[in-house]
Amino acid sequence: MLSPLCLLSNPIRGVLYLALLSLPCSSTALESATNIADSVHTLAPIRYVNTSTLSIAYYDSAPSDSAAPVAILVHGFPYSIDTYVDVVPKLSAKGYRLIVPYLRGYGTTSFLSPSTPRSAEQAALGKDIVDLMDALSIDKAIFAGYDWGSVAVNVAAALWPDRCTGMVAANSYLIQNRQTAWATAPSASLATRWYFYVFLTPQGYSALASDTRGWAETLWSRNSPQWNWTQAQLDAAVPAFRNPDYVDIATNFYKNRLLYAPGDPSYAKLAGELDLLPVIRVPSVTLDPDQAPVFPATNGSSTAQHFSGPRVHHIVHGCGENIPLQSPQVFAEAVMEVAALGKRHN
Ligand SMILES: *[C@@H]1O[C@H](CO)[C@@H](O)[C@H](O)[C@H]1NC(C)=O
Ligand SMILES: *[C@@H]1O[C@H](CO)[C@@H](O)[C@H](O)[C@H]1NC(C)=O
Ligand SMILES: *[C@@H]1O[C@H](CO)[C@@H](O)[C@H](O)[C@H]1NC(C)=O
Repeated sequence: MLSPLCLLSNPIRGVLYLALLSLPCSSTALESATNIADSVHTLAPIRYVNTSTLSIAYYDSAPSDSAAPVAILVHGFPYSIDTYVDVVPKLSAKGYRLIVPYLRGYGTTSFLSPSTPRSAEQAALGKDIVDLMDALSIDKAIFAGYDWGSVAVNVAAALWPDRCTGMVAANSYLIQNRQTAWATAPSASLATRWYFYVFLTPQGYSALASDTRGWAETLWSRNSPQWNWTQAQLDAAVPAFRNPDYVDIATNFYKNRLLYAPGDPSYAKLAGELDLLPVIRVPSVTLDPDQAPVFPATNGSSTAQHFSGPRVHHIVHGCGENIPLQSPQVFAEAVMEVAALGKRHN
């Protein structure tokens, strides 16, 4: 199924590393049967651990297996940890320990203090991953994500490479330099990001607060137009939006990215480092779904400058933004691929 289309040279190491491969957004007969039955299992049980700022709710597939290689799987907006419900068994079967946390503002992850700013800035999302690892005494892990999860794993991999054995990220590199936050873009591109701008307004805030399910339904449909997601999958995600900080966090992500909300001062130093667009030097597999209008698929060359280690880029055909739920096999294979990439280059 893998058809190598081209090889590009890595600008920093001068080695042929970036392979562009095409993947179908396939689903097995078993997955289709699950969809027809419209039944969805969920990740359980949920565990809790405290960092300095959060009580993080997370699923852990093998809490007592301290020898297993760990992969941390990070969800996006407006989704939940159950995005990974079909990825987890595939990787568990290969001996991985999977940790799937609810982001700040989602599910039963909660802030320990009412006075902590409800910031969803990129530095906070990335640091939460490393704080979670510290709290669980996990030294190193593979980081994998899509959408907000890509932002989180990009940041964590770039700023804490010693904690990361490999990164899987949809849309390659989404770390933002605030200086370019207001760069002009084609109208067709801005039109796909309409909700970023709605969330800057009080109307957007109250609209999301009054109908979190309806917003998820709209964004799942618009951001993955060819994905026949089921009502059962949406039902499984909806409890994640009942967090008391959900609307603050969801809108803050876009407000902060568009410079309409300042960051939390406690992340100022990290935020400054991220403005320099730090290079990701850990082994990386990047995935561009070709049915995700907000971030059109690329061949990976435009983001090559942000990677200095081994990197493989795939276009995932027929897939929308939620790759792990729509195409769990592709996502699971990307995690195994980045692990192999790390071993080959050590
Ligand atoms: C987390 O911190 C809260 C508040 O300090 C405390 O009540 C709770 O027991 C802690 N939870 C864990 C799992 O340590
Ligand atoms: C999704 O549903 C539409 C309409 O029923 C159908 O035409 C299409 O083939 C389906 N797509 C997939 C990938 O199953
Ligand atoms: C990748 O895409 C860029 C921009 O669209 C194009 O200029 C470049 O030739 C492409 N590279 C390959 C190897 O296809």
